[in-house]
Amino acid sequence: MSNKVVVGAQWGDEGKAKITDLLALDADLIIRYAGGCNAGHTVVANGKTFKFHLIPSGILYKGKTCLIGNGTVILPESFETEINELKKENIDLSGLKISPLATITMPWHTEVDGYSEDNAKKGKIGTTKKGIGPTYTDKMARIALKIEDLYSTEALREKLDVILPLKNKQLEKVYGLKTYSKEEVLDLCEKYKKIFEPYVCFEWQKMLEDFKRNGKRILFEGAQGVMLDVDFGTYPYVTSSNPIGGGACTGSGYGPKVIDEVIGVAKAYVTRVGEGPFVTELTDDMGDKIREIGHEFGVTTGRPRRCGWFDAVTMKYACLVGGLTSIALTKIDVFDSFDEIKLCTAYKDKRDGKIYTSYPTNVYIHKYLEPIYETHKGWGEDISNIKRYEDLPQNARKYLERLEEILETPISIVSVGPDREQTIIK
Ligand code: GDP
Ligand code: IMO
Ligand code: MG
Repeated sequence: MSNKVVVGAQWGDEGKAKITDLLALDADLIIRYAGGCNAGHTVVANGKTFKFHLIPSGILYKGKTCLIGNGTVILPESFETEINELKKENIDLSGLKISPLATITMPWHTEVDGYSEDNAKKGKIGTTKKGIGPTYTDKMARIALKIEDLYSTEALREKLDVILPLKNKQLEKVYGLKTYSKEEVLDLCEKYKKIFEPYVCFEWQKMLEDFKRNGKRILFEGAQGVMLDVDFGTYPYVTSSNPIGGGACTGSGYGPKVIDEVIGVAKAYVTRVGEGPFVTELTDDMGDKIREIGHEFGVTTGRPRRCGWFDAVTMKYACLVGGLTSIALTKIDVFDSFDEIKLCTAYKDKRDGKIYTSYPTNVYIHKYLEPIYETHKGWGEDISNIKRYEDLPQNARKYLERLEEILETPISIVSVGPDREQTIIK
């Protein structure tokens, strides 16, 4: 196997975890490179369903190394809960490692996230309230704590002398929220230190070098999706990290030449959780039908996902900025009972009739855009047990081949159900 990145190609929840779990079978090192416990990643293996938030989706195999990379943000309590749940299932965690350079989400980050969401009169993002935005903000402002700080009392005390006066002023004066004393934060950090201790990989440089030198196979697991990327997504309705393929480098410690393939995971339709533009959204019965058959409810927050037809305009954009070399198309089985399937190939501006075939990055005009669709015939049969591409009904293959033609990117994997087994490798 070559070294691969698994990237969400839409607005998240595309089935990345299923594809990561599948590819992890042939990998030695699996690195989650961005995001935090805003992610909800589902793996169905041997009839059992596992839900991950931060822990790489390769953890179900024994003998693999699973690294939570430096590009992530870690909410200690959420990490602890996830660990405990896996221990209950007797999952072997001996290969689990955390980069000492990952950033810690502190209580003030979740409090500020919650406050901003609950009090936004305009421009609400609909975040997961896991403190993601405020943690990355502080990382960029150079006033965040890293995992390694927990293991150096001197560094921690020095950093807190800089962080806390600033942070407390902000919490009190801007948000009207509780402030923190140094002693209180030191106590919290003591608790966090114990939670992370068994997993922190201070030898990460040597480990990364060894894996590379010995030709071991590396799999990078993305979270969220290209359209939620802070640089390229539907800004400001995005998350605060870089889910794109390029994020695999800044979030892991490996350079771009280590990567051979970037697999973009996309559903055969589109979903979105939270606010923000979504040109192909279906707010009618068809949207409800997709949500019901596709079980489109968030793993992390339980929120119903907004549903719509496949949007080839954003997907073409995702192929470019996500750096995709191929696509894993998931949930095509959801269309088994559909007479017709629509596919958006362009947008039309209602104001002046202007046609967009490339993605317009100014999201404030998206409310004026309507999708231009082409319609494909359904196949009217259960495809969830099909194992070979040639055995797919002709209309399903036609739909897939049309997607490849528009996107100018090959579909390498077709997923026809949530289970590991329900996958067609092309
Ligand atoms: P992720 O965040 O990208 O890993 O995706 P989620 O786990 O949030 O959501 C994907 C959902 O779709 C999960 O419930 C998966 O079990 C399920 N799923 C993945 N692939 C398929 C598929 O091909 N068909 C169906 N019916 N379900 C799928
Ligand atoms: P996975 O990895 C879907 C969305 C939130 C919100 C926006 C910002 O499971 O695909 P944040 O809490 O990150 O500040 O919220 O991003 N969002 C996701 N939507 N799947 C995810 O992760 C998401 N992670 C964040 O709903 O709109
Ligand atoms: Mg998800």
